[in-house]
Amino acid sequence: MCGIAGYVGDDNAISRLYTMLEKLEYRGYDSSGIGYICNGGIACLKQVGEVSCLSPLIMGKSSHCGIAHTRWATHGKPSEVNAHPHLSFDKKWAVVHNGIVENATYLKEKYLGDIVPVSETDTEIISHLLSIFCPDGDISSFISAISCLSGSYAICSVHENMQRLFLTKKHCPLFVAIGRCESAVSSDISCLADRFDRFYELLDGEYAVVESGRVTFYNSHGKIIHKDSQKMCKNTSVVDKCGYIHFMLKEIEEEEDVLERLYSIYDAERLRQELIDIDFDRIDRIMLVGCGTAYHACMYGATMLSWHTHITSTAHIASEFIYSRPDLDDRTLVIAVSQSGETADTISSIELARKKGCATLAITNCTSSPLSRLCHATLDIHCGKEIAVASTKAYNAMLQVMYFLSHYLSKTPYLPLCHEYFDKAIYDDVDKVSMLLKDKRELFILGRNLDYITAMESALKIKEIAYIFASPHPTGELKYGFIALIDSDSVCVVFAFDDALLPKTLLGIEEIMSRGGSVILITCLEIPRNIQDRLMCLISLPVIGTELSPIYSIIFWQKVSYRVSILRGNNPDKPRNLAKSVTVE
Ligand code: F6R
Repeated sequence: MCGIAGYVGDDNAISRLYTMLEKLEYRGYDSSGIGYICNGGIACLKQVGEVSCLSPLIMGKSSHCGIAHTRWATHGKPSEVNAHPHLSFDKKWAVVHNGIVENATYLKEKYLGDIVPVSETDTEIISHLLSIFCPDGDISSFISAISCLSGSYAICSVHENMQRLFLTKKHCPLFVAIGRCESAVSSDISCLADRFDRFYELLDGEYAVVESGRVTFYNSHGKIIHKDSQKMCKNTSVVDKCGYIHFMLKEIEEEEDVLERLYSIYDAERLRQELIDIDFDRIDRIMLVGCGTAYHACMYGATMLSWHTHITSTAHIASEFIYSRPDLDDRTLVIAVSQSGETADTISSIELARKKGCATLAITNCTSSPLSRLCHATLDIHCGKEIAVASTKAYNAMLQVMYFLSHYLSKTPYLPLCHEYFDKAIYDDVDKVSMLLKDKRELFILGRNLDYITAMESALKIKEIAYIFASPHPTGELKYGFIALIDSDSVCVVFAFDDALLPKTLLGIEEIMSRGGSVILITCLEIPRNIQDRLMCLISLPVIGTELSPIYSIIFWQKVSYRVSILRGNNPDKPRNLAKSVTVE
């Protein structure tokens, strides 16, 4: 949620920061800004809207030291005044921040006196505290100012008289890379990968002072500490549409490669090694936690684990889990599922699980994430960078990894990858379905059992990028209430991939059609002619076993959601009000 960057070195900091912001934009895009040292003071350029809106402002500007930010609003609407960087009252300090200062109101009352905040943000207080506690830019006073904060933060700041960046973090990622005559800082390593070979990851409670070509790290007592740099993985730099119009389309098209990669990586021996720190013999309960799409992946994981291991396995929405007084002990395994590994609610769930002595496992696309660091073991979903805000390939990958995990634990063989689902010809009907839906205001999406998980994920996808209200339901629930809403304007999308449940699903379809509702049926099963003839549309996909079906049946709908989003004039990569990494609870 918000991306931050810093640069100090021989190059023009402003253009380097702008390039980094373009790569960080997936983290928030309601406003952006750059602050830089110029003529012994700090100048700020800020703009509402996407990062590209900053481009005319940076023309002809140069500096050798600066900070930058792309924002997803938490406190205060998207506006120029609320955009970062935030200057202190005396303009000595400028700050960019990712996270939330939970005690901002208290700190304002305690320390600001006559100083009137200019923005509605929680961040502004940090810059004022720095000027109050640390007017001359010494590290021990910087630490004293930061120690007043509670909440989560990655902070990068500059002092007017210094060609230096001051950093610290808690619960939000921050990376530093050092070159010969330059240094850069970012929330995401991939912004640093094209220019640097090695990087440092700042850990919670650590501080750093970054100069051109050097960095000094401190602990929370102000003592210099030694940190080892890590080798940059060069493929983290692939933040490129590679000829596609949108990242979302590229990421959907990558799904076959992702699944193939996972099949080649996760044999039983590899899983044994990755899970060596978890004693499965002690585990008598598995709880899976995640948010949004990752929660739907948890639903699939819980079903697979229950079917295959007979260990009671349940899926939980992370933001609810922590308040649900879960019964956790050292025989419980908590699996946190998160593409980014940064989602604050998921991290809090794992912190709780760790406190209660549970075993913990992260299933994530980012093995250097805070989540992965917190867990006893990690299974990497290996799907490459996912930039589009709406998750696609990461969802299929999470499901695939959980499929492998459940079969590994039950020592049963995997069914093979189903290549037929990647034959472009089977998606000829995407346009037809998209045209049927593009002007709809609402939809019902139905499925039973595993197909209900697909219905949930489908509803989320079309809501978030096409802005169509979609209500997912288990097909069997129809007659217990929401059938009251069905009339001749209703469109119901039904997923049916489970042979054993088909007769009951068809009954539900009859009930909808007999009340005038229209049905789009997406299935891999044989549908009786008399029903086919009365459907609004039948999408027949290749035959696939029930267990694997959620990994594949969603692909058709990901494509439909993408297409409908375009038809409605939206940008599917950057849906309104959303951000890729949600680092606040
Ligand atoms: C929806 C979507 C979100 C994320 C959620 C959790 O398409 O992408 O619902 O699934 O924000 O994110 P991660 O997986 O990074 O924890």
